[in-house]
Amino acid sequence: MSARPSNVGIVAIEQIFPSQYVDQSELEAFDGVSAGKYTIGLGQSKMGFCSDREDINSLCLTVVSKLMQRNNISYKEIGRLEVGTETIIDKSKSVKTVLMQLFEESGNFDVEGVDTTNACYGGTSALFNAVSWVESSAWDGRYALVVCGDIAVYAKGNARPTGGAGAVAMLVGANAPLVIETSARATFMKHAYDFYKPNLSSEYPVVDGKLSVKCYLSALDNCYQLYCSKAEKHLNGNKINLEYFDAMIFHSPYCKLVQKSLARLMLNDFIRSPQDILAKYPGLQKFQGLDLENTYFDRDIEKEFMTCSKSAFEEKTLPSLLLAREVGNMYTPSLYGCLVSLLISKSAEQLAGKRIGLFSYGSGLASSMYSVKVAEDISERSSLRHIIANLAHISTQLKSRTCVSPSDFSSIMELREKNHHKAPYTPEGPIDTLFPGTWYLESIDELHRRVYKKAA
Ligand code: ACO
Repeated sequence: MSARPSNVGIVAIEQIFPSQYVDQSELEAFDGVSAGKYTIGLGQSKMGFCSDREDINSLCLTVVSKLMQRNNISYKEIGRLEVGTETIIDKSKSVKTVLMQLFEESGNFDVEGVDTTNACYGGTSALFNAVSWVESSAWDGRYALVVCGDIAVYAKGNARPTGGAGAVAMLVGANAPLVIETSARATFMKHAYDFYKPNLSSEYPVVDGKLSVKCYLSALDNCYQLYCSKAEKHLNGNKINLEYFDAMIFHSPYCKLVQKSLARLMLNDFIRSPQDILAKYPGLQKFQGLDLENTYFDRDIEKEFMTCSKSAFEEKTLPSLLLAREVGNMYTPSLYGCLVSLLISKSAEQLAGKRIGLFSYGSGLASSMYSVKVAEDISERSSLRHIIANLAHISTQLKSRTCVSPSDFSSIMELREKNHHKAPYTPEGPIDTLFPGTWYLESIDELHRRVYKKAA
């Protein structure tokens, strides 16, 4: 190989979500909570969910086959494939090896990578690994494929409306239209029991909701401050703040937390450089000298900074929340669903040359902040147009989903719960309501071997 690869990043991206959803305002009534709690309080509109016909393997089979087909890529062109997921149905066999069924016909078995797990962060780790592989001396010139997929389901109760499901596949290569910047990347990792899945016979996590929000915000503070100080070194010490990013996207457990997170970045800017923020918002004077650690649930600070950051939120973050609001928290694909939503909200011309900040969070906890630079010259690296064109179906597909009543949704959750890990098992969920081309679980035999088929 001659020259080292440059401008490594995302060259194609595909998103899938379930063909059915439950309406969050209907769910409020069904759950007997006050009207507005899920829709206004959490900022959620609809929640996608899977019947027993879909599992993590089928979701990933669907997203990979759709990405390859839509972009006309041969399976021979893939040299690395890694899956980020926290939806574990086998303690040994990776989802990646299940996906190798798709490669069989091409005769390509020379594909590095397995699965990566840490709550909602596994996809980001897989993406960093893919970028490193393309940039390394082991790279053989082929693409890396990163798959993030999860079925996010919670036991009955206050966490249930923050579920969702879906998968994202990203093709990683050189000379990409979405370049993953390596000059500044910030990570914050710590031991915490905010959300975890110790019960291997259940799909549901153990979750301390309030602690998870605190951990998320604390990780955000740490990643942002570190990102800024690292990036500043490359800018000869020039100060960085929110203005540095044209768009800012977040792991999105529910949209309200994301709006609070953007406000939190302005709070960080205020702490790092108060005079700059005070010049615009003199009313914030009273908050000088704050200790961030004591502000996570301070209503006054939250309210003031949400007001001051409202226009920044609407400009930099709101366009990225379509899938988060309409499908819910997809866990590992959540952040990348935000990227997809952002890409379909603008034209290639509007996106050219822009910098997108990304915050990835997985409970437990693992988090990173990094940035993607959209290629300046969209005519030279014309695939930005292809990326956007290949995502054009998302908006219509969201609208063509079937709305399921909360009581049917609840029965389907009970069915999943009852039959989780049952063998042998034949799923009951309908096939004709799946989107065309969806892979589904046909049966599980007595040795727990799963057989999948593709819907016409
Ligand atoms: N109208 C408008 N707003 C309302 C209404 C109403 N009728 N009722 C309540 N609200 C508001 C509340 O004031 C609150 O707003 P705030 O966050 O600004 O305080 C919001 O709705 C939520 O209400 P809470 O009572 O705080 O909700 P609850 O504690 O029951 O559950 C929680 C929220 C903790 C997020 C829960 O859904 C959960 O545990 N989810 C899973 C964990 C999670 O997603 N954590 C995030 C990071 S980790 C991860 O990604 C998994």
